[in-house]
Amino acid sequence: MKKIIHISLAALGLLLIAGNTVTAKEDIASLRGTEDLSGASLKPIKQKVISQEGGFERSYKQQPPMVPHKVDKYKITLKNNGCMKCHSKKNHKKEKSPMVGESHFLSRDGKKLQKVSSRRYFCNQCHAVQVDANPLVKNDFDGLK
Ligand code: HEC
Ligand code: HEC
Repeated sequence: MKKIIHISLAALGLLLIAGNTVTAKEDIASLRGTEDLSGASLKPIKQKVISQEGGFERSYKQQPPMVPHKVDKYKITLKNNGCMKCHSKKNHKKEKSPMVGESHFLSRDGKKLQKVSSRRYFCNQCHAVQVDANPLVKNDFDGLK
């Protein structure tokens, strides 16, 4: 019986120490601020998407270029990809748009396909529109110059 009490006390001690280290980290702030995890998040401010003729400069080689136009009208579904109305091999000249990169036609094994590979079907998985917003956290990233 005495042994059990000793073990329990030791466990309690460990818990207290662990508890203290957690409180010591209280200065790590969440991007949600003081908002309770289970509470509703703040409504995001609606920002204007930037349209930029000539596109955005890339920050590094192999960066998926950022989208320099609005996209809310171009839906991507299983049957139809709205982006390909302008960016496909077939339509890009007529629409005066850049064609999707050659890499978009390669299968996982590097085989050249006729259609855009399923790996590249969901365009906005990699290509994002831009708004004039401040970064959520400070960062020192300096792109290719
Ligand atoms: C109505 C035609 C049209 C549609 C539809 C369209 N785009 Fe574009 N897109 C353009 C044109 C034109 C440009 C070139 C703009 C420029 O450089 O001034 C462009 C540029 C881009 C670029 C930049 C390429 C580069 O090298 O900088 C990306 C990325 C892009 N579009 C992605 C998309 C995605 C993703 C969608 C679908 C959500 C889409 N586009 C739908 C016409 C279109
Ligand atoms: C898995 C990420 C990924 C997806 C998904 C993707 N792209 Fe790209 N895209 C890239 C990368 C990386 C580049 C730059 C290198 C290259 O051309 O492969 C690029 C380049 C481009 C370019 C510029 C091509 C050039 O020659 O300058 C256009 C336009 C483009 N993508 C449109 C699209 C469209 C439209 C879709 C959807 C059908 C799409 N991308 C899907 C990663 C992606």
